[in-house]
Amino acid sequence: MCGIVGYIGPGQAAPILIQGLQKLEYRGYDSAGVAVLDGDLITIKKAKGRLSVLSQKTDGGRNLSGNIGIGHTRWATHGAPSDENSHPHVSQGGHIAVVHNGIIENYKKLKESLMAKGYAFLSDTDTEVISHLLDYYYCGNMIDALVKAINRLEGSYALGVISSYHPGEMFAVRKDSPLIVGLGEDRNYIASDIPAVLEHTRKVYLLEDKEIVWFKGNEVKIFDIDKQEVQKDIFHVTWDAGAAEKGGFEHFMLKEIYEQPSVIRDTISPRIRDGKVYLDDLKMTDEDIAKLSRIYVVGCGSAYHVGVVGKYVIEDMVRISVSAELASEFRYRKPILTPDDLVVVISQSGETADTLAAMREAKRLGCRVLAIVNVVGSSVAREADDVIYTWAGPEIAVATTKAYSAQLQVLYLLSLYLADKKATITEAEHKKIVAELLSIPDKVSAILKDVTLLQEYAASHYNAKDVFFLGRGLDYCLALEGSLKLKEISYIHSEAYAAGELKHGTISLIEEGTIVTALATQRELFEKMLSNIKEVSSRGAVVFAVAMAGDTDIASEADTVYYIPKTLPVLAPALTIVPLQIFAYYMAVNKACDVDKPRNLAKSVTVE
Ligand code: F6R
Repeated sequence: MCGIVGYIGPGQAAPILIQGLQKLEYRGYDSAGVAVLDGDLITIKKAKGRLSVLSQKTDGGRNLSGNIGIGHTRWATHGAPSDENSHPHVSQGGHIAVVHNGIIENYKKLKESLMAKGYAFLSDTDTEVISHLLDYYYCGNMIDALVKAINRLEGSYALGVISSYHPGEMFAVRKDSPLIVGLGEDRNYIASDIPAVLEHTRKVYLLEDKEIVWFKGNEVKIFDIDKQEVQKDIFHVTWDAGAAEKGGFEHFMLKEIYEQPSVIRDTISPRIRDGKVYLDDLKMTDEDIAKLSRIYVVGCGSAYHVGVVGKYVIEDMVRISVSAELASEFRYRKPILTPDDLVVVISQSGETADTLAAMREAKRLGCRVLAIVNVVGSSVAREADDVIYTWAGPEIAVATTKAYSAQLQVLYLLSLYLADKKATITEAEHKKIVAELLSIPDKVSAILKDVTLLQEYAASHYNAKDVFFLGRGLDYCLALEGSLKLKEISYIHSEAYAAGELKHGTISLIEEGTIVTALATQRELFEKMLSNIKEVSSRGAVVFAVAMAGDTDIASEADTVYYIPKTLPVLAPALTIVPLQIFAYYMAVNKACDVDKPRNLAKSVTVE
């Protein structure tokens, strides 16, 4: 959601802050601001709207002097998007400037008590209580003030702080919101995410909750909440700087769609040896697995949709009951969990507030939590008992594509691994599925080689008002994701239905010209899908079908058919998703939508 960048070094801070914030635009924001420290003078510039507005106001930061600074892109939570509510926020008297990502849950109480002490508030934000609180506790030592303020704050925060009382210094701290420290030769950085500093350094510190960072000159010291100095290991970023750039594609989303063959290969290959799946990172013992009574797969949005696929696949292969859960529901519905249940949480960012809360609830109830996460060192990754990383690299486009595909692959690996341990499939079946899994990257490449049909279909149907997605079994799970992809980036209304549900009400929505995307890759359910296609086309629907190569009977029922390469039905989702992503992408491009940053959406949803 919000993005933070901080800089301290010999260069002019503001241009570096603005460039860093540009790298975080993908997180979603509605206003931006910077504060720079020149000697003991703090200068602040903020602007509602795109970062380009702030950039214009400050000539790309060049008309702000100072070598230390903090910058922020804000996603409104408390108070509407406005110049006043934009960060940085300053303390009364203007001596302390703060940028904040997260939510202060007890801000009202704090605000009342600060107002009673004479503090006047200039914004509607929760953040402003932090700057005043720091001022209130400041007695010559900013670390002391931070410790005291933190002890009063409830909720989540990543903070960057500068102060006219401390020329030449910068401070930072986090709890439940992401923040990293980038380490340069003679300059250092803070940022909400690695892409913001990747141009400058590959050496970072991943901060733990309530670790306080103090920067002075080129020195960096980290303290815990008891003010004891902490020694941290440097995390070396191995992925390419180009991985966070568009690399010649028109949009990050398209680039990320095209990265899927290598992402899938990176995610599965190191975990497959001699036709068998090995999850070396898992701490779960064979005994733990033998005891498993039930699995809950928990996530939000697309990650939840992967969970729905997981329900079908794990139940099929492992013969254990699986429940796919929306994290925002799961966390509040008092789930009945036992220590023999496994909770699998899925998250690209590893920072999604509802997913984190659901995970914590599961842990509180004594459950083992296995996380499938993309961002190394994220909160979910750090708090889970077990982590299986998806090696998708940074995903910049707000709408997930490659992370979804990588999550799907991990679910296949997990299902095969558990099935092997529980001996619920034969060795021959295991080998057959693994061999087919290894061919998925090439089959995805084959799909990506020629997307003309999808491009043309989108070019002639992008004016659609509604698009329905139908499927049975695993195709229903893919209908959910295909529909979400389309609506979130093209703003076309779309619904996904289990095709068997049509007659129970949905069919009344079908009329002359309604676009129906019918997924029919599951051999066992193929004839039933053909009947469903007949039902909608006889009522005037225009049917775009996705089927497996060879299943040509569908051609006489649908108006247009897209064939995915032949694979095992259980693995078909890994291929079916690709034309659905491309279809959504070109629909949005034809409508001239902001594909990478759809309206109202944020990449990392760190508030509930
Ligand atoms: C949709 C999308 C979202 C995310 C959801 C969870 O394209 O990207 O639905 O899947 O917000 O995010 P993570 O995976 O970061 O927990």
